[in-house]
Amino acid sequence: MRTQVGIIGGGPSGLLLSQLLHVRGIDTVVLERHTRDYVLGRIRAGVLEHGFAKLMREAQVGERMDREGQVHDGFAIAHDGVRERVDLKGLTGGNSVIVYGQTELTRDLYEGRDRLGGVVVHEAEDVAPHGLEGDRPYLSYRKDGKDERVDCDYVVGCDGFHGVSRKSIPKERIREHERVYPFGWLGVLTRTPPVSHELIYATHDRGFALCSLRSPMLSRYYIQVPLSDAVDQWSDEAFFSELKRRLPEDVGAAMVTGPSIEKSIAPLRSYVVEPMRYGRMFLAGDAAHIVPPTGARGLNSAASDVYYLYHALLDHYERGDDRDIDAYSAKALARVWKGQRFSWWMTTLLHRFPDASAFDRQLQKTDLAYLFSSRHALASLAENYVGLPF
Ligand code: APR
Ligand code: PHB
Repeated sequence: MRTQVGIIGGGPSGLLLSQLLHVRGIDTVVLERHTRDYVLGRIRAGVLEHGFAKLMREAQVGERMDREGQVHDGFAIAHDGVRERVDLKGLTGGNSVIVYGQTELTRDLYEGRDRLGGVVVHEAEDVAPHGLEGDRPYLSYRKDGKDERVDCDYVVGCDGFHGVSRKSIPKERIREHERVYPFGWLGVLTRTPPVSHELIYATHDRGFALCSLRSPMLSRYYIQVPLSDAVDQWSDEAFFSELKRRLPEDVGAAMVTGPSIEKSIAPLRSYVVEPMRYGRMFLAGDAAHIVPPTGARGLNSAASDVYYLYHALLDHYERGDDRDIDAYSAKALARVWKGQRFSWWMTTLLHRFPDASAFDRQLQKTDLAYLFSSRHALASLAENYVGLPF
């Protein structure tokens, strides 16, 4: 097979890039290790910046998101028994976010790929990039027991944190930055009306908690747990009782609980690899960087990579201009680091760190007090939450 852009990974990054390029007449092939059902079965975040939504529309897959996604003009931070609102719209001069589950977004992207006749190969085994330092790169893989090959101009690694693309770069050609947090998030999905129509991030002596949602009848709740905890240690009853203890009383009292339809623990990690390019291969999304989920930057950081790469490839194919291809890594990383800073800050502000000194705790409390005493501080939080410009 021959294509212009060979993409490894059919998650949100790979599918969105492939769809955007296809709309502009650039040919792509996406190689995905798992089945479509598997990819669609993953429960992930669900807060989109408007920049992301714009890209979805440009990719001709924004219709259902615009119809069913919920525009959120604010969210709350609960602490010390009270709930304070962060007025995103007022603080940013009219910006907001859209709550639309990643599962739904991925479904729309797959439908878009089908509609345009895009090539997405599922269950592609042992995908490997080759010839990245030359000008004839190719991908090899196995499908139904047969060895296959895709020749291309460029390779894009959109295969997530555990993918093969970053691992195929010689160690001496990259620099990795990492912070691992000493706790995880236990998340539960229930078919119940959300306790609040806006998200509530809560900080408490017992740890962080988050009340989120997917739709008017689907709630997503999280609590901070030690990394040593296992999911089966947490019954639904124990989960909700702990969640309520970390929330203001009125919120806990109003909460409708129900059996969990998904329950999992995710560790929290910050990670960035530099540069995001090796020869003819670019990295995008989780393949190059991950953030702790506090502040909902993960999916949105992937979207900004896709934006820069899409425009760089358009310039290359439509005008023969490679300046943005060469600038991709630096441009993408500049924004990636801002997302890293923000999610590290929000994580540090709202979680209980088991090894925190009295000094650390006092700083954390002061940071929170300052936030709600200064419109400038709140505006800084808000402009990061709705997404800094690409
Ligand atoms: N070969 C082919 N495909 C692979 C390989 C491989 N060796 N390794 C991983 N993949 C696939 C995975 O099965 C997955 O479908 O790559 C895809 C990567 O998708 P994501 O992990 O969702 O990463 P990305 O598309 O960059 O999405 C970034 O969405 O899921 C969130 O936390 C994520 O918020 C972040 C954003
Ligand atoms: C979620 O709904 O899963 C979610 C929302 C906001 C976050 C993290 C996760 O910051």
